[in-house]
Amino acid sequence: MGIPYSTTTFINNPITIVLTASTGIKEVVWKKMETYEKPTWKTKFRSWLNECWRVLRVTKKPGTVEFQTIVKVSGLGIVVIGCRGYGNVRIIPFILVNGYYHIEGNIHPTIFGENIFHLTTRFTLLELTDLNKPILKRVNMEAPGTYHHSMLLGNLVDAVATEVGADALKARVMAYYHDVGKIFKPEYYVENQEGDLNPHEKITPQMSSLILLSHVKDGVELAKEEKLPDLVMDAIKQHHGTTVMAFFYQKALETDSHSSVNKDDFRYPGPKPTSKEAAILMLSDTVEPACRSLKDPTPTSIRNTVVKLVDGRAREGQLDNSGLTLNDLAAIKEKFISILTGMYHKRIAYPGQEKDKESK
Ligand SMILES: [Fe+2]
Ligand SMILES: [Fe+2]
Repeated sequence: MGIPYSTTTFINNPITIVLTASTGIKEVVWKKMETYEKPTWKTKFRSWLNECWRVLRVTKKPGTVEFQTIVKVSGLGIVVIGCRGYGNVRIIPFILVNGYYHIEGNIHPTIFGENIFHLTTRFTLLELTDLNKPILKRVNMEAPGTYHHSMLLGNLVDAVATEVGADALKARVMAYYHDVGKIFKPEYYVENQEGDLNPHEKITPQMSSLILLSHVKDGVELAKEEKLPDLVMDAIKQHHGTTVMAFFYQKALETDSHSSVNKDDFRYPGPKPTSKEAAILMLSDTVEPACRSLKDPTPTSIRNTVVKLVDGRAREGQLDNSGLTLNDLAAIKEKFISILTGMYHKRIAYPGQEKDKESK
C-alpha cells in the first residue's frame, strides 16, 4: 500500500530536511515508511520541484506571506506520532495527518500568523473580494455610484496589473475599497449625483475641497474600525497621491479678488503611491472617469485623454515611488486605451432611436 503522495511531499521538502537533519527524526520516519512502499527517485524529485516552486511562488509576491513553513514544522511532529502505529492500521494516521495538514493545518496557523505579524495572505485577499462583506454592501446601499465605480475599477486594475506583472488580486482588492470614505457624504461625489443636482454649486470651492479631502480621512477611519489590512489602508491614502483638485482650485482662482488662494489647500495629503498596484489604481481612477465623461468618445479622443492624463501624473512625480518603469507606463497606456475604447466607444443608434431624438 502506498504512502499518500502529499505525505512524501511533506517529508521530502527542503525546509523539513534542514530542520530535522540534526535530530535524525527524518531517518526514523523513513524507516517506518519503508515497511509500506519506498518512493522512487522520480517521486522524490517531483516533490522537491513542487516544494521549490511553492517557496518561489510565495517569495515572488511582495507583501503577502503563506505560513506553509510553520505548518510543516508543526505537522512534522504529527507525522512522527502517526508513524508509531502498529500493523495494518498504521496507514490510518497518515490519512488523518494529510487531512489535518492540508485543511486545518493550512488555515488556522495562517489566520493566527496574520493577526500576530500583521501580514496579508492570499486567503485574506480572496476573502476581501467577497461582495457580501458588510462594508461593501453598505457602500452599495449608501453610495451606489461609488460602488459601481469601484467594481469597474476592480476589473480595470486587474487587467492592467496582469499586463505589467503586478499583483492583480491585490490591485483588485485595493480598487474595491479605495473610496469607502465616500459613504459619509455621497451626494458630493459626481458618480452619486442625480440629474442636475450638484450641492457644490451652493458652497465655496474651499469648502468643496475640504469635503472631498474628507473621503480619504473618513476612509482610513472606517478601514481601522473594520480592521481592514494595511494594503487597503494604503489604497485609501495613496489613490490620490499629492494631486491638486484642479477643478475647485481653478474655480477658487476665478472668484478670488484678494489673491489669497493657496494651492496646497486643494492638495490631497498623500503619500504618493508606494507600490505598482497603488499606482495602477491611481491611474485607473484618473482615466476611467475622464473617459466616461467624454462628450464624443471616439478611439482617438480616448487615446488622447489616456496619454495626456497618464503622462501628466508621471510628470507631476506622482509615480516616483511606485516602481513603475517607462516600459510599464507604455504598456499600461495601451491596455487602458484598448479596454476603455471597448467600454465607452460610440454605439450605433437602434432603429427608432434617431426618430425619438428628432421628435424631442
Ligand atoms: Fe477617491
Ligand atoms: Fe475613485
